[in-house]
Order: sequence, then C-alpha cells, then structure tokens
Amino acid sequence: MEKKRILVNSSAGSYVIVCGAGVLENAASEIRKLGSFSGVHLVSSPKVWRVAGKKVLKHLSTKAKAPVKMHLMNDAESAKNLNTAEKLCRSLVRSGIDRHSLIIAVGGGVVGDVAGFVASACLRGVALVQIPTTLIAQVDSAVGGKTGVNLPEGKNLVGTFYPARLVLVDSTVLRTLPDRQYRGGLAEVIKYGVIADTELFAWLEKNFDAVLRRDPAMLSRIIARSLEIKARVVSRDERESGLREILNFGHTFGHALETITNYRVYQHGEAVAWGMMTAALLGHELRLTPADEVSRIVSLVRRLSPLPPWPKVPPKKLIALMHSDKKARAGKLRFVLAPRIGKAHSHDDVPADILERVLHFAPHFINPETPQPKGNRHV
Ligand SMILES: NC(=O)c1ccc[n+]([C@@H]2O[C@H](COP(=O)([O-])OP(=O)(O)OC[C@H]3O[C@@H](n4cnc5c(N)ncnc54)[C@H](O)[C@@H]3O)[C@@H](O)[C@H]2O)c1
Repeated sequence: MEKKRILVNSSAGSYVIVCGAGVLENAASEIRKLGSFSGVHLVSSPKVWRVAGKKVLKHLSTKAKAPVKMHLMNDAESAKNLNTAEKLCRSLVRSGIDRHSLIIAVGGGVVGDVAGFVASACLRGVALVQIPTTLIAQVDSAVGGKTGVNLPEGKNLVGTFYPARLVLVDSTVLRTLPDRQYRGGLAEVIKYGVIADTELFAWLEKNFDAVLRRDPAMLSRIIARSLEIKARVVSRDERESGLREILNFGHTFGHALETITNYRVYQHGEAVAWGMMTAALLGHELRLTPADEVSRIVSLVRRLSPLPPWPKVPPKKLIALMHSDKKARAGKLRFVLAPRIGKAHSHDDVPADILERVLHFAPHFINPETPQPKGNRHV
C-alpha cells in the first residue's frame, strides 16, 4: 500500500502525518529528520507494549543513537487523570529527561492524550512523536494537538494544545485490536462522513461489511481519508474557535454518557456512536436534519452494534453534566448538528424542552432493545 504524507499546520509549526501499512519500518529515519535528541522516552501501556512493543523497538532502536527509556502507564479511561499524569512526569524526571529529549507515545487515545499532556507540561515542553495503535487514535486523537486528562466533573477538563512533531500511523498495528475497540474507532470514521464528506459516508454504507472485516485496502483508505479531513480542519482552526467544533459531532451527548457512567461502561467511540444518533434526532426535532438523512445516519451507526445500552438516568441529569462540558459557553450548551450528510455546524440555541424530549425518547427510538428506564416520566 502506498504511504501518504499529510501536512498539518499548527501555531507551533507544521508537522507531518505519515500513514500506510508498514510505515513503522521507517520510524527511525522519520524521527531522525526531526533533529537529534539527548534521550528517547517511550510512553506506552503494559497491554499495548505486549502486542506492539517488539515491533516499535525493532524499528526505533536499530539506528537510534540516543538512549531509549521505557515508561508504562495504565491506559484505562478511568485512569486518565492527574494522578496518572503526575506518576508519568515523576517517572520521566527520575529517568533523567531533559528539554532536548523526545517523548514517543505508543498507544491508544488515552496514552496519547496523557503523554501529550505530560510532554507539554514536563520541563515546560518536550518534543513529542505520536505512534497511535487504536483506530480512534489513528484517525483522530493523535492529530490536532489536543491533550488532556479527565476530572470527576467531566471529560478532558484539564489539558493543553500541544501538537506532535510527527505522527506515524501504521495500520498493521491494528491487527491485534479487539473488535469492540475497532468498532468504536469506526464511529469516528462515520463522523467524518457526516460532518464533511458525503462520498465517504456513501462509500461506508456500501462497503461496511468489508470494513468491519478489516479488509486491509479499505482500512488504509478510510484511515487516510479521515486523516485528510482532520488535518484540513485543525490546520484551519487549531484552537477550536470555529470550524474545528464540527469534529465534536455526537460528542456533547457522548461525553455526558461517559462521565455519568464514570468512564467504565462505554468506550469513547461507543459513546460517540450513541451521541451521533442522538444528535441526528435532535437535528430532526429542530427541523434541521431531514428524516431520510437521520435514517441513514442512524442505520449506519447501528451497524456498529452491539453498543452498551443507554444508562438508566433521567435526561435532566445528563443535561446538568453537559453544562460542565468544556464545549458549553456562557452557560449555553453547544451541539454540532448536520443539516445534511456532509455538512455540520455548531448551535447554541437548542431549546431546553426539545433537548429533554430527545434525550427521553432517543434511546428507545434508536434501539428498541434498550430496556425502558424505570419510572420514565422524566419530562
Ligand atoms: N485528543 C483528541 O483530539 C482526542 C480525540 C478523540 C478521542 N480522544 C480520547 O481518546 C481516548 C479513547 O481512545 P481509544 O479509543 O484509542 O482508547 P484507549 O486508549 O483506551 O485504548 C483502548 C484499549 O485498546 C488497547 N489497545 C491499544 N492499542 C491496541 C492494539 N494495537 N492491540 C490491542 N489492544 C490495543 C488499550 O490497551 C486499551 O485497553 C478517550 O480518552 C478520548 O477522550 C482524544
């Protein structure tokens, strides 16, 4: 498969995403292009290192002149917090990191977000390379510079914008990814279709079975297309002052679902999947998204099933959580809605009664198997 180089612009300078099957084989030479470093600090998790460590080390250490040190962290979503970030900082400092070192994050979105946050804060900034190993991390989190950790009050509430100097996206590392994680990643791929690419969406509708089987050619195609969209959006609006908000399609609902279940029930992509279907319904209730477009969005997202069921919580509780989401502005909730597939805008004028109504009926409408919450008179 052909390797692609995608340029991303950021306020810290531009950087390259190299993607394609087998790009890790050139990891050492790609990293050498960045300059020389006094030491290399690999950050990963025990699980990721077991499945991908050998491959990464093989292609890094052969020609690496700088000493390579290893730091393993817990990559459970429930451990994506300041405590884990502090432990990682201390481990880096104890092992002699300095401002001319390089941190290489090898893992899913949790490793990437925490290592990125630590890279931005430790010694006020150490160079970072991302080697994402989940589909979500490959098509989304490793690009665009958002780093962060969760607070009990909400997701990613402490973080920075700190782009990597290089992102190496090798689709062959996805071979060991459990099916559930893979399907979660596809939720973000569907998102790119909804917000920016009618053709990608229609192509997914047609080829979803092959995509679910991880057909290598199809996988490379959807990863590259997703990265092109993400790169284009974040290059134009790094700090999310406008356009970048569209990447949050499904995320206002998704983050609330993750937070209310203490990050223990949904994987990020699964929560986003529920969130996208709910956002489509909300768009329809607001007379923005036509019924046939809602139906296409819901049908495609449902092909990611099974998803953990909607939590048995009153809509009002979810809405209260959405208010502490960092997307809320001046007390107003913000939702990305799609007037049609391939187009999306952010809205802050959703009437409270409509939102509550949608939250009330969405889980039953979307998934008739979802058990009715007890005492479902929340509205
Ligand atoms: N910074 C951003 O812009 C951004 C964007 C999207 C999501 N995120 C964040 O990303 C996180 C979700 O990331 P994720 O879905 O990658 O989950 P994750 O990092 O929790 O990884 C999921 C699981 O897969 C395992 N794993 C990783 N790579 C593997 C491989 N190749 N083979 C086998 N197992 C592997 C991990 O050990 C983990 O158990 C969330 O915290 C979310 O907030 C950030």
